[in-house]
Parts: sequence; structure tokens; C-alpha cells
Amino acid sequence: MSSVEDLVITGGMPIRGRLRVPGCKGISHRALIFGAIAEGDSHVRGLAPGADVRSTADALGALGVRIHDVDGTTTVAGHGFDGLIEPTTVLDCGNSATTMRLLAGLLSGRPFLSVLTGDASLVERPMARVAEPLRAMGAWIDGRHNGERAPLVVRGGSLTATDARLPVASGQVKTALVLAALQAAGTTEIVEPAPSRDHTERMLGATGAPIEQVDDCSVRVRAGAPSPFDLAVPGDPSSAAFFVVAAVITPGSELLLEDVLLNPGRIEFVEVLQRMGAHIEVQQRDIRLGEPVGDIAVTSGPLRATVVDCREAIIDEVPALAVAAAFADGVTEFREVAEMRVKETDRIATLEQELSKLGVGVESRPDAMTVRGGTPGSAMFDSHGDHRIALAVAVAANAIDGESRISGWDAAAISYPAFARDLAGLTGSVA
Ligand code: S3P
Repeated sequence: MSSVEDLVITGGMPIRGRLRVPGCKGISHRALIFGAIAEGDSHVRGLAPGADVRSTADALGALGVRIHDVDGTTTVAGHGFDGLIEPTTVLDCGNSATTMRLLAGLLSGRPFLSVLTGDASLVERPMARVAEPLRAMGAWIDGRHNGERAPLVVRGGSLTATDARLPVASGQVKTALVLAALQAAGTTEIVEPAPSRDHTERMLGATGAPIEQVDDCSVRVRAGAPSPFDLAVPGDPSSAAFFVVAAVITPGSELLLEDVLLNPGRIEFVEVLQRMGAHIEVQQRDIRLGEPVGDIAVTSGPLRATVVDCREAIIDEVPALAVAAAFADGVTEFREVAEMRVKETDRIATLEQELSKLGVGVESRPDAMTVRGGTPGSAMFDSHGDHRIALAVAVAANAIDGESRISGWDAAAISYPAFARDLAGLTGSVA
């Protein structure tokens, strides 16, 4: 994506009030795809507004799925797997690896040809992790570097169940295989080296698809499909993480985040911040399609350094936590960060570059990063075209007296187009 717009933030104003962050991106992608393969209409309220989920909706449109939106409720007219038709155009997944990997799994079982591509970031991200296990089920997939990079070409067909042992824990790869396994003869077992996010198991389980969570790291799937469903998408915890950190590090803040997804595999960042001394309370209020939902209350306060192991289900929250570490007393160590290097950017490299501008010490090794907290100062930041880097530096800038500038702010629109407006609304600069 192009990164042309600048955002200027004059920091030092506390964050006070209540907020609903946009709908969860991971749940929104899945709701569209699961709705498409169900037989009948599904109704989804509060779908994530960013460009990533739009990429999934547009790709499904090109596959013949009718999706329309009225007053914030999206209707997906599902006609089962057989309702999908061969696209006449290349499927552009934009910046969204979730779109590309999930669709690669879905299309592996469809008897037609599809081509999946994306922006300059996405075509450099690893795809062998999804292409190889899908080939083992009988899919024909090719792409640049022998299918290691997009564009990917998928000629789907009949699939057979396998025992898939995945080399990396990944919610995206697991879901791709589940979507293939729902179309395969026999029972597929998918085993990961560590737990990954489990929205697919919860949502498909709640909509009657033949999926069984064997334990934290394995899932069993037979041929079948979900039933149509109604869902109010809860707020995205990865977006909430930026406001949680913003409220913790900006003195005088008091914030209530309402209707947030509280899936235990998505809110580990709360425990990390509590370990650092943050005052955060979580209250569950609802369960939707198997997912716990509720509120997160935060007040500002001092932080101390900790050790963050990214195997603790902390993935997309590393940028927000790295900002917390920059404001904490002591040296915070992030371990097992290799996967952060294959996100929208090499997030360890981009964080090292951007946090250094704050005047705090950041060092990295291939699989680790340390942040020496201090008294950050205002700076000229760059998003590097990565939405989570843009939001992370905005959170830092808000906590610092003086003016900071973020170039490439338009990257924020990937997951949180209204972030600047929401931040301004809570700091009082917008009525
Ligand atoms: C996602 C899983 C994670 C996460 C991504 C969304 C998902 O990626 O970083 O933003 O929806 O399953 P990996 O599957 O690469 O861990």
C-alpha cells in the first residue's frame, strides 16, 4: 500500500471515557468465509471496517458470493462450497495474509483455477507453510519460488484427509487446512507445535460444522459445512491493546473499552501488562459463537520491565507491548520473536528503528528484542506501511509532551481507519 499521509499528534493529554474498538478482524474474515460456505443467509453486525476484511469480501464477491451491507449489518448469501464459481479475475488480497492463506485452503477443494496476489508486502510473506500441507491433501498449488511466495495459483480438486503436522503454530495455516478438510474425504487431524488462535474451532463448532478440538494443539475435522448464523462481532482485542497501552502510559487516564473479544488466546497482553504493574480489569458479559466477550477497564500508572515470551499467544500485540516497555522502568526482554519478522513488515526491525527515535535503548537478535525503558521524547516516526507500527507510535506520541509526526499514517486503515478520530475523542481534542 502507498504510505503518503502524515498524522501530527500533540501528546500529554489523558485518555478518558468509553470506547468500542472496531470489530475483530480475525472473526470478521472467518464470518464472511464461513457464511459463504453455509447454505443460506448469515447476518453479521459490526464487521471489521479495515481494508483487510474488505479484501476478503471482495475476493468472495469475485467467487460469486453475494455480500451486502445495510445499516452496519452484513448479509452473506451462502450457497455452500458448490456455490463458489471460478473467478474471471485475479483475487487481490491486498495487505491481508489472512485472506490469502484462508482462501488458498478454501480454493484447494474447488474444481477450478484461482490466482491469489497481494501488495508489495504480502508477496514477500511466506506461503510454503500453507502450500505444502495443502499439496499433501492433493491440492495443486504453485507460485513464485515454487509456491513459497505469491502470486499463488490454485487448481482445486478432490482432496483426501491427512495427518498434518505443522512446523509453525499459525491460526491462518490451521484455518486454511480446516477449510480444505471440510471438503476432503475422511478425517483430517491437524497438529501444531504450540497453540494458535482458535476462532475457527469455536465459530465452526458453534455453527454445527464437524470439527473437534482434541487438545490445545490439535484439531480433527471431517467433511461438512457450517449452518448459517447471526453474529454481532466483538471488538478486536489487538486494536484494544493499543488503547489499553495508551491509557496505561498516559498519566491521568481512565478508560473503559466495551464489548471486546476476550478469547483467552487473544488477551494474554493484559496479563503481561498486569505483570508490569498496570491497573487493568476484565469483565466477561457474553458468549457469541463460542467466544467470550466483555469489557476492559484501565487506569494509568507506572510500569516495570518484564519478560515477554511470544509463545504466550502474543503476536499482533508485540508493537503495543514494545511501546509499554519503552515507558517502563528497566529492561524488558521479548523472546521467541522470529515470527514477528515475517509479518506485514519485519516488526522487530521496524520497532527497533522507530522506538530508538524515542531515545530509549532497543537491541535485537534474530529471535529476541530488548527495550530499555526511559523517558521517551517526541519524534518524527514512520509507519513503514505497517498498520500496527503506525498505531504503536501513535500511542507513544500521545503519552509524550510536545508534537510528534507519523508519516505513512494511511497504513492504519488496514485494521483501524478511525483510530486518530477515536484517540482525539478520548483526549478531548474532538468534541
Ligand atoms: C491470524 C493469525 C495470526 C495473526 C494474524 C491473524 C488469524 O497470524 O498474526 O493477524 O486470523 O488466524 P499467524 O497465523 O501467522 O500466526
